[in-house]
Amino acid sequence: MAVLDYYGHSTFGLTTDDGTRVIIDPFFDDNPWTEVSPSDVEADFIFCTHGHFDHFVDAIAIAKNTGATVVGAFELIEYVQSQGVENVHPMHIGGGWDFPFGRVKLTVAIHGGRVHGEGAEGFTTSPAGLLFDLGPGKRLYHAGDTALTMDMQLLKGRVDVALLPMGDNFTMGPEDAVTAIEFIEPSVVIPIHYDTWPFIEQDVEAFAALVGARARVVIIEPGKGSYEF
Ligand code: NI
Ligand code: MN
Repeated sequence: MAVLDYYGHSTFGLTTDDGTRVIIDPFFDDNPWTEVSPSDVEADFIFCTHGHFDHFVDAIAIAKNTGATVVGAFELIEYVQSQGVENVHPMHIGGGWDFPFGRVKLTVAIHGGRVHGEGAEGFTTSPAGLLFDLGPGKRLYHAGDTALTMDMQLLKGRVDVALLPMGDNFTMGPEDAVTAIEFIEPSVVIPIHYDTWPFIEQDVEAFAALVGARARVVIIEPGKGSYEF
């Protein structure tokens, strides 16, 4: 059994079948959805889709607290390393790696590449999505922050559970997210990156209605729920 705990926005805790604790896009401080403090987070791995603060701000602190390995695009990881984090794993778009808990591939995301952090000005990178293969029925896609892309057609038949931004303004909005679902054909869609701020307010129930029979939409109350698969 794998468990996804949703802390709101794009932040998840993923516990895999073998008990590995993965944090995706650590945004705890200043995240209005969660009371969890970064100092309370347990992790073996931290995956960051990109360097914007709302996906990355607590990565270094959690890594230093826990000894977790930070994984992401090369330039982002160079910055993490420059801040004194020893356990890192740089990757880049299109590349995959067999981690002890499963395979992870970095996918294309169209978005901004700036890295937020002290002294991070020289570390601009390409944002990514994350494709976790945790076994049959457990292929998990975290799209990161992205526009709708034609590249999503490459994911068709390769995703069971898709975590898709639909907040609009900074990422895909609801209509483009529906097209992404038509491209990818996942069984389950969990909407993310909405309602955190006024710019990304959405009616998530209306989004589920718009998706209709294309996929099962699982709405997790941000910061309060989890999904088992
Ligand atoms: Ni972003
Ligand atoms: Mn974001």
